Amino acid sequence: MDSYNTKTTREKNWKHSLLYLTFIISILHLTHQTNFSRKLLIGNQTVRIKKTPQLPLRFRSDGTFKILQVADMHFGNGITKCRDVLASEFEFCSDLNTTLFLKRVIQDETPDFIAFTGDNIFGPSSHDAAESMFKAFGPAMESGLPWAAILGNHDQESTLNREELMSLISLMDYSVSQINPSADSLTNSAKGHKMSKIDGFGNYNLRVYGAPGSMMANSSVLNLFFLDSGDRVVYQGIRTYDWIKDSQLHWLRHVSQEPQVTH
Ligand SMILES: *[C@@H]1O[C@H](CO)[C@@H](O)[C@H](O)[C@H]1NC(C)=O
Ligand SMILES: *[C@@H]1O[C@H](CO)[C@@H](O)[C@H](O)[C@H]1NC(C)=O
Ligand SMILES: *[C@@H]1O[C@H](CO)[C@@H](O)[C@H](O)[C@H]1NC(C)=O
Ligand SMILES: *[C@@H]1O[C@H](CO)[C@@H](O)[C@H](O)[C@H]1NC(C)=O
Repeated sequence: MDSYNTKTTREKNWKHSLLYLTFIISILHLTHQTNFSRKLLIGNQTVRIKKTPQLPLRFRSDGTFKILQVADMHFGNGITKCRDVLASEFEFCSDLNTTLFLKRVIQDETPDFIAFTGDNIFGPSSHDAAESMFKAFGPAMESGLPWAAILGNHDQESTLNREELMSLISLMDYSVSQINPSADSLTNSAKGHKMSKIDGFGNYNLRVYGAPGSMMANSSVLNLFFLDSGDRVVYQGIRTYDWIKDSQLHWLRHVSQEPQVTH
């Protein structure tokens, strides 16, 4: 009886192994066929995998690191009118001019990094938040330079909420934006205060390393902290702006005290 059982078990194991091997080979074949590393095919649509910039962020050999900060583009598909232009220019000036301007500034300044700090789109003028985001960040994506964004109080007034917007932005070409710190780094930052969640969407830090070949080449010498200061709120009956919460400050204090990363 015993030896019979052993035999069938062994046979079963062998069959399982064969099935497993066949499965692995099919998967390898499939991934090879569909060029999986470069694109995903969903229905008839080709979904490209996000392009990543050259990383890590790093100072130049001349010791500089140029950041282009862009705020309040209020992109709205040509609906948002320009402010502070001549009366004669008003009719023909919109957020689309801002996009052209951004393109020129990137070309002329060749920054090392672009930071978009909110109200990237103007929600009420956008019938499709994702489409507007792609257009608003278009010049940054085309430049191939690393860029990151956070939200203002107008970004979520269209078809996507703040979490969805940050997810989308983090998946765009050359974006180094993150939705929030990982659960792991939040737990570590607890150290006494148990914290598993951070308020808002778009809280993260980016490390900028020393110039290539320098003593600091393998260390972060600059931390760029992004914090979500939220939307609008009604506080004690008064309509006002939201603010940075304790959970965000705890995280900020912790990561800013971490030693430089060296590898
Ligand atoms: C996979 O992608 C590369 C680069 O885009 C391309 O040269 C190659 O022809 C592709 N192979 C297949 C099987 O589509
Ligand atoms: C995929 O594309 C082919 C050719 O353009 C078309 O005939 C077919 O209907 C499409 N299928 C789907 C699911 O869209
Ligand atoms: C805005 O762009 C349009 C189209 O390129 C151009 O005709 C117009 O002069 C621009 N307005 C300003 C104020 O630059
Ligand atoms: C940085 O790391 C590289 C690769 O490991 C190494 O060759 C280089 O000597 C390091 N530089 C410094 C300053 O530690």
